[in-house]
Amino acid sequence: MFCESPMYEDLERILLSKEEIQARVRELGEQITADYRDDPPVLVGILKGAIVFFSDLIRSIELPLTIDFMAVSSYGSSTKSSGVVKIIKDLDHDITGKNVLIVEDIVDSGMTLSHLKQVLATRKAKKVSIVTLLDKPERRRTNLTTDYCGFQIPDAFVVGYGLDYAEKYRNLPDIGILSPKVYDL
Ligand code: IMP
Ligand code: MG
Repeated sequence: MFCESPMYEDLERILLSKEEIQARVRELGEQITADYRDDPPVLVGILKGAIVFFSDLIRSIELPLTIDFMAVSSYGSSTKSSGVVKIIKDLDHDITGKNVLIVEDIVDSGMTLSHLKQVLATRKAKKVSIVTLLDKPERRRTNLTTDYCGFQIPDAFVVGYGLDYAEKYRNLPDIGILSPKVYDL
């Protein structure tokens, strides 16, 4: 019914359809356009999860913005979130005096973004704000707040629209809850 792709067989259910996502991304774009009219932002996409959201969002913002990317790893040597963010790929451009808007796919514990926000603040940006497509507030372990949020979702592992499980499912157009049978194997 949804799609021929066999990836859909690994979903428990679809949480957000591509139509719902598109509509919400357009709203976020309109809001950001209004808020940054006098000082267009640098949008910083966090690789790789945010790429699909990022590419749709920038086309919904009607301002002469610029873009940059960072890749970070929220984990040290173990698989437990340490709160220490390792920068794997840094920004290409200087952000001194700039209005920075970090674009993230999902906020879970909040460890990654609270650390990243501190790092960018030390670089003398004029302001560092956050837009996330998804937020799981029940999982928060920091006092991080976001400036723009697409959807608050329940505590479940989701994939699609850029979000992965073991690097897969990023190309699903919808966002779905991954069936536990996939990771219990
Ligand atoms: P945090 O530091 O705990 O907020 O981690 C956020 C990062 O964990 C996100 O950028 C994602 O890469 C990953 N993550 C958290 N929840 C999910 C999920 O449900 N699906 C896919 N990735 C997730
Ligand atoms: Mg991510």
